[in-house]
Amino acid sequence: MNQIPLSYSLIGAFVVFLGIAIALYLSSARRYQSANTVANSYDQWTEDGILEYYWGEHIHLGHYGSPPQPKDFLQAKSDFVHEMVRWGGLDQLPPGTTVLDVGCGIGGSSRILAQDYGFNVTGVTISPQQVKRATELTPEDLSAQFAVDDAMALSFPEGSFDVVWSIEAGPHMPEKDVFARELLRVLKPGGILVMADWNQRDDREVPLNAWERPVMQQLLDQWAHPAFASIEGFAELLEATGLTAGEVSTADWTTETLPSWFDTIWQGIIRPQGWLQYGLPGFLKSVREVPTILLMRLAFGTGLCRFGMFKASRANVAASPSEQVEVSSVS
Ligand SMILES: C[S@@+](CC[C@H](N)C(=O)[O-])C[C@H]1O[C@@H](n2cnc3c(N)ncnc32)[C@H](O)[C@@H]1O
Repeated sequence: MNQIPLSYSLIGAFVVFLGIAIALYLSSARRYQSANTVANSYDQWTEDGILEYYWGEHIHLGHYGSPPQPKDFLQAKSDFVHEMVRWGGLDQLPPGTTVLDVGCGIGGSSRILAQDYGFNVTGVTISPQQVKRATELTPEDLSAQFAVDDAMALSFPEGSFDVVWSIEAGPHMPEKDVFARELLRVLKPGGILVMADWNQRDDREVPLNAWERPVMQQLLDQWAHPAFASIEGFAELLEATGLTAGEVSTADWTTETLPSWFDTIWQGIIRPQGWLQYGLPGFLKSVREVPTILLMRLAFGTGLCRFGMFKASRANVAASPSEQVEVSSVS
């Protein structure tokens, strides 16, 4: 009997795998509806543990260096946090600096900021299950605490924190201008906002074309995103609050973070123990995400999406006159 060459078998297996992934994707449509969709999605992704198994404690892309170098997937994620600290100038701040981590996930950044920089961190997320898991993962003697809170209407008074930090929560925010204002409102005058975000190309001059529009719609619907801002557009929204001192600084880290997408799929292949641990439902659930991951890679690789970094300082003006007297500056 003729032997089928290994390369043909692998190609065949890949085609079957992708076929299953696309069939699952198409047969279980998703659509963003409200903040509830976001909270429910993260509650489910946290409860079943699959996301944490593959992505670890950081639900964000990794930083692979400039230019990017091959790197361990989880190492790239914690490196991202340190790169963002340096880019934001937070490594110059003293221990005890108060930080609000907006959209904190299961607390990966918060723990690094508390453990490695001595900051006093409060992490907030819309998902109660993430608060539970973040608290479980955090040693009691670490200065990091977690609460459910809505970034669209933060429960903290004006001028509460020295630093506001946020990674990849922006695409979940339905009103970007409200989000921009809330981030700056809770900062003390002189305080620093450092934020990382998935952004869309600024389409005000060149609108999205025939293939970009449906791809963008999928990226929104699949992972509970009402809209992506552009880097330029969100910087303008921050400045339009009237709460920033000087210009908002931005950077594009698309190149540094791009290897994360293929690395995500690669994790599923090189760690097949996960297939046993989470059984057939877990396998199908993970495989269902493959088309979205490939679309993300396509979008970030072709310039439809960009990985935006934002840095701003809070001006010494009140966001709301009634709270003016309570605001104290960063010492
Ligand atoms: C992609 S995850 C990033 C998590 C975390 N920053 C990290 O890097 O590991 C997005 C986070 O934003 C949170 N989020 C989404 N909408 C929110 C809202 N309206 N208020 C607070 N958190 C929100 C989600 O619950 C989730 O924790």
